[in-house]
Amino acid sequence: MSANSYEKPDFWSRKAFSEGYPARSVYKLKEIDEKFGMLKKNSRILDLGAAPGSWTVFSLRTLNGTGHVTSIDLKPLAKDVKADNLTFIQGDLYDEEVRSQALEGGYYDAVICDAAPPTTGNRVIDTARSSGLVELAIFYAQTMLVQGGNFVVKIFQGGDQQKYLKQMREIFESARGFKPEACRNESFETYLVGLNKK
Ligand SMILES: C[S@@+](CC[C@H](N)C(=O)[O-])C[C@H]1O[C@@H](n2cnc3c(N)ncnc32)[C@H](O)[C@@H]1O
Repeated sequence: MSANSYEKPDFWSRKAFSEGYPARSVYKLKEIDEKFGMLKKNSRILDLGAAPGSWTVFSLRTLNGTGHVTSIDLKPLAKDVKADNLTFIQGDLYDEEVRSQALEGGYYDAVICDAAPPTTGNRVIDTARSSGLVELAIFYAQTMLVQGGNFVVKIFQGGDQQKYLKQMREIFESARGFKPEACRNESFETYLVGLNKK
């Protein structure tokens, strides 16, 4: 798959739709999972900033009827994103009540976070808001992952990436940045990956 192919948003959106995913962002998680083996069958996965639900659907397909996915977003998931082993919490990740609901079924083997603030077009503001979400996602990972658990979080480039990687290296055996090809060339988002919680 060439990087240029990803520059044709309609093609990738149509491909996602034809494969039953509500958003093209699924191909980013697919690449991350192929490279790092983030998601395992028979595990518990927490999806932060999940709507419309393509990462949730990818996680459910990986589990193939085993394990459990808990997804959280301010907005609802797409109507057809449903499964017996899916819990959806509609709410704000910053809300303490949402955090305690997320822990009701126990700890997680993977925390995946594609949450993004609504963009203003002002890069300084957008990056600062993205950093706030990254910090929060690291807190979820630190407090809700089992030992050996994996973590991925989206960050807008320029947003204190080194500071968060340093923090993640204290929590995980390894931590690094990774920009999937599926991030369109013009996009300034990238991902931080933490593997094997200590
Ligand atoms: C890029 S979308 C996620 C796409 C999703 N991974 C998928 O594949 O369908 C980012 C999401 O983050 C959510 N979000 C941003 N801030 C949030 C917050 N404070 N609490 C909950 N969700 C939030 C937005 O509502 C939005 O749906």
